[in-house]
Amino acid sequence: MPSRSGLLLVDIGQLLTLRSAASGPRRRSSLSDLAILEDAAVLCLGGKIVSVGTARDALRDPWLKKNRRKVIDIDCRGRVVLPGFVDSHTHPVFTNPRLVDFEKRISGADYEEIAEAGGGIRSSIEGVRKANKSALAQRVGTVLADLARHGTTTVEAKSGYGLSFESELKSLQAIRTAAREWPGTVVPTFLGAHVVPPEYRGRAQEYVDVLVNKMMPPVAKRKLAQFVDVFCDRGAFTAEETAQIFAAAEANGLAVRAHVGQLSETRLGPLLRYHPASLDHMDHVNDDDLPALAQSDTVATFVPGANYFLGLARYPNARQFIDSGVAIALATDYNPGSSPTLSLPMAMSLACTHMKMSPAEAIVAATINGAWALRLAERKGSVEAGKDADLSVFDVSDYREIPYWFGTNHCEMTVMNGVPSGPLSS
Ligand code: NIG
Ligand code: FE
Repeated sequence: MPSRSGLLLVDIGQLLTLRSAASGPRRRSSLSDLAILEDAAVLCLGGKIVSVGTARDALRDPWLKKNRRKVIDIDCRGRVVLPGFVDSHTHPVFTNPRLVDFEKRISGADYEEIAEAGGGIRSSIEGVRKANKSALAQRVGTVLADLARHGTTTVEAKSGYGLSFESELKSLQAIRTAAREWPGTVVPTFLGAHVVPPEYRGRAQEYVDVLVNKMMPPVAKRKLAQFVDVFCDRGAFTAEETAQIFAAAEANGLAVRAHVGQLSETRLGPLLRYHPASLDHMDHVNDDDLPALAQSDTVATFVPGANYFLGLARYPNARQFIDSGVAIALATDYNPGSSPTLSLPMAMSLACTHMKMSPAEAIVAATINGAWALRLAERKGSVEAGKDADLSVFDVSDYREIPYWFGTNHCEMTVMNGVPSGPLSS
């Protein structure tokens, strides 16, 4: 199928457009507003959405009438079509699953005990350091293809298992190489501050200095990342170290985001000064910080796949965040230690069953608010004329079935920047 040719999706049972006149990320009741059209059609040209409406409106389009033969029809046979998911938090650059950690946890050890005993993030370092760039790129490419099969068309991808100058740059280059081969959109993030690597044990400040002075400038100069991320938590980096890294990112022209509150509480005020695009996990948050978070455009990104896979009874208190007016998103946190899933519908299902988010809120959190969390909402996250042609088609007839059917994949096709893939497109 030629890429970026005209595409007309017709006979859409429910089209979740998510169009909205409001500006800024969705909060409170606007988190439930899917702006659904029934018996709808979408016309895409040159990688962009050009018209959205009822089937009758679409067929009346003057351009379409003249150019009917230049357009490929996709008959959606009454299915649900929505914006491609925006997965705003993944760690795809690793070589091996962490099966020993998995078994240890089943026998009763927790995430931090496993990390202290030499497992955890540090046990993924060697594989990445030894791997060559093309092998890493190939692995990332496989992940991207799999994400698309589950409905994701935009993904943030972090480095963070190399943790040396060479291996962090190699990881970011692998992301870049894989991204060039994928029709979807990849947003690279430098996570050199994932943990202090073993050779700097007990010398965290020295590692932070290397990260800030040696690693970050070439990452910025070669445009290998759009964001800098820090794992700000017990056993990783302190709030002071995080602020130092954020300040350096700002000086290098890079935007910031952080993992916060997964294992322990960190006060958010000092971090919010750097206008992070998102703060992720948020299991342990001080209630007094929610008003300031709600006043900001920082998105709180929940990753319930990690709670599920670590076997935690507790999930973030999404309702409290929503009632406080915080903008929230959902992401997979795809990684080998705490969340080996690339299914956003699975994360959405967990958000519904364990965090009491409605199916509509889960969809908004995984699309337009994910786009806000990546500062891409101008182009991504809703089905509106002028936006990138990123769509997913699910073989269900009601959108609530997307988080309802868990553990199986109902995504039938995606369109990424106008390029269709999946059974309906062949
Ligand atoms: O988001 N919390 C830090 N990073 C990952 C875990 C990474 C790992 O265990 O490999 C997370 O859960
Ligand atoms: Fe993570």
